[in-house]
Amino acid sequence: MPDQPKTYYLTTPIYYVNARPHIGHAYTTIVGDVLARRHRLLGEETFFLTGTDEHGQKIERSAAAAGIPPQQFTDKVSAQFRTLWDRMGITYNDYIRTTEPRHKQGVQQLFRKLYENGFIYLDSYTGAYCVSDEAFVDAPVGTPCPDCGKLLEEVTEENFFFKLSAFQKPLLDLIESNKLAITPPSARNEVLSFVRGDWNSILELSNEELGAEHSEPLEVFEAFDLAHQKGLLEKFGEDLYYIPGALKDLSISRSSFSWGIPVPEDIQKAAGATKPHVVYVWLDALANYMTALGYGSDDDSLWQKFWPADLHLVGKEITRFHCVYWPAFLMAADIATPKAITANGWLLFDNAKMSKSKGNVVRSETILEGFGRLCPPPLALKGTGFSPSVTSPIREEGALAPEANQRDRDLFATDVLRYFLLREIPFGQDGSFSFDAMITRYNADLANGYGNLVSRTLNMIQQYFAGAVPSPIFEVPGTDAIDTSVVGAAAIAFQKKLATLRDTDFSTFLTEVAAFITVVDGFISAAAPWKLAKDPTKADQLATVLYVSAEAIRWISGTLFPICPTITAKVWQQLGLGDINLAATDGELAHLIWGGLKPGTQLGTLGPIFPRADKGLAQIMIDLENPTPLTIENGKLKTPATTDPAAPPRTASLDEPSGTLTVGGSAAHTTGPSTTPSHTEAPASGIFATPPAAPAVSDASPEITIDDFVKVELRIAEVKVCERIPKADKLLRLEVDLGPLGTRQILSGIAEHYTPEEMVGKRIIVITNLAPRKMRGLESHGMLLAASEEGGKPFLATVPEGVPVGTRLK
Ligand code: ME8
Ligand code: MG
Repeated sequence: MPDQPKTYYLTTPIYYVNARPHIGHAYTTIVGDVLARRHRLLGEETFFLTGTDEHGQKIERSAAAAGIPPQQFTDKVSAQFRTLWDRMGITYNDYIRTTEPRHKQGVQQLFRKLYENGFIYLDSYTGAYCVSDEAFVDAPVGTPCPDCGKLLEEVTEENFFFKLSAFQKPLLDLIESNKLAITPPSARNEVLSFVRGDWNSILELSNEELGAEHSEPLEVFEAFDLAHQKGLLEKFGEDLYYIPGALKDLSISRSSFSWGIPVPEDIQKAAGATKPHVVYVWLDALANYMTALGYGSDDDSLWQKFWPADLHLVGKEITRFHCVYWPAFLMAADIATPKAITANGWLLFDNAKMSKSKGNVVRSETILEGFGRLCPPPLALKGTGFSPSVTSPIREEGALAPEANQRDRDLFATDVLRYFLLREIPFGQDGSFSFDAMITRYNADLANGYGNLVSRTLNMIQQYFAGAVPSPIFEVPGTDAIDTSVVGAAAIAFQKKLATLRDTDFSTFLTEVAAFITVVDGFISAAAPWKLAKDPTKADQLATVLYVSAEAIRWISGTLFPICPTITAKVWQQLGLGDINLAATDGELAHLIWGGLKPGTQLGTLGPIFPRADKGLAQIMIDLENPTPLTIENGKLKTPATTDPAAPPRTASLDEPSGTLTVGGSAAHTTGPSTTPSHTEAPASGIFATPPAAPAVSDASPEITIDDFVKVELRIAEVKVCERIPKADKLLRLEVDLGPLGTRQILSGIAEHYTPEEMVGKRIIVITNLAPRKMRGLESHGMLLAASEEGGKPFLATVPEGVPVGTRLK
């Protein structure tokens, strides 16, 4: 048999196009890119897939809210994701969009296969649905979604169902045997207990109910055995139990809206459907992992080559879809299941998951722009082979271009972000993001650690050896030769440790790298080459110290390459080793051998790699996140009195609306465009770790432009539910119907002036694109418009007769 190269297929989730990407999406995508680069350099034929998830009710509503047709809307947002990944140099092999014909065709084929295999039937569903998660939820309508906190809506409609219940045992076998490996263990356990069912119900049964012959307390396994005898528990394997029937069938079509892939006509007909059905967006979305490889198309060569997936990367909130529904669909369709699924934790802001719908996000563009400012200008070429970027003008040796171009800055900043996220967050856990922490980490590990080691070593080689890597004299018995064994042993130990790490142990890996850098730094300081250089009899020792340091830099750069492909390329170039990408493809990086650096190697052009960042960079990035600040006060729009970049961030009181607030909702509160909401919260630590300041508004209302005004989305709403909030005298909790935008919860400080009874049924005007905020532990998403005197009763703005709810005011 010919020797087939090993293949490696890995995927990111395909992201919803309801709003622009933020660094949470970048996080998973970066992890994917690091793994893809790593597997490529190991010589595996790697296919790395990402893309966008474009169907379903959530997207349909976002498009409606934006006032453009869904296809046009998804084209726009999908392009924003793709453009960002391109700016960040993400090496995806394909970018799939679920609105592409190739995908639709494959989804219909999968649906047909499931139907033909007897796993699909028509029925009707009445229950709760979370539009934000696109999930059927087992909780009362009108209560917050247990996963994301958005209000659950009622769905009553004809649906096609998938016989998920038939896959309880097969799924348990698959996961328990690790044929489908789920990591981290927390994700695996969560999935297993979902599939297994809740054992507590068994443990709550009395001895009598379980048929025990004695009344002593039962051991867990004793209780389980009795329950097993009664048919309440089933067994698989030796002593593992599950509750039969715990896994319920799943709706896999929707018939109350149309933005999706149609269920094949003939199946709808044969099953007797009375309404047109589209495929449930999660079945549609999950299938992307197959359709991108050509499943269901005329050319399935990639499918044959790469399926099953080696790894699906997901965020921890979507493990159930990937680890339960997805393998069940595949088993039902006689398709091999993926080998592994790994869930990353969440990037948090203000202790909450950074999310598009909450608006508490940091955009990657802000990081690119901010850290990009530190990128040193491109260096001139020396020798051949490497140009920092195709567009950089080639200059005289040693000369600096006036500044780095955009491409260089983007890739430099991306490397810093990659390093920071992977170093700071133990993979699988949640981590708080903060600009300050990022700056601190950059200065400590990259500027002072790696960067300083590179520049002091290479500058000494330049100075003492005319830029050629010197020959070391490792052992000269009977002489006072330098003892290099510290570094050599550390290097070997370092390599051994790396070999035992899992692919995703990034923070441990980077901690090892930092520790190795410390060893090498210590070695240089102890050997003091600048002193050796003064004594001609110590030339061999000097050569040895600098050789060993340069070799350590080669090792560090080679191992860091998948994480920081751009800056390690610069170091590689300065070390005189040419293009690091070649070293990656020819196997050099996969098999670093201590002592492999060739003496005599002529260094490249030297120049700064990591200029130190000063703390002011944090404020620059905060300001970038809050582009055109707008404040709403007394129902009027105001721009801040100052545009001084050094001024405190626009912020407002976080207290519940006080008597002086004259608008009845989420309070005088700054806002930006809905896709880039501003951060009014000023937590003690975190990204906006600046002290809360008084609202940056003056009494006068400066003029605004029409562009400022259109950023504020005003809509007609009807109050459906209204109640007082215990222990909050001024607050009412409202649920308002916004037509196509669905139902929202808004907290309003009007309880002293309006009773819940008089509010229900009222038509009001709501500002809908305010970033949601929490008050009294409840989310308030929007604000009511009212007119009032300072301290007086607010009068709710009235609504013209006959205009439907949801209509926008312009
Ligand atoms: O769920 N921290 O799309 P989505 C870490 N379309 N990762 C985060 C994050 C955060 N704060 N926010 C987002 C969907 N992510 C579906 C997926 S797949 C067939 C369909 C990352 O736009 C993380 O990987 O809500 C998370 O699972 C994914 O983005 C969700 O993106
Ligand atoms: Mg989500």
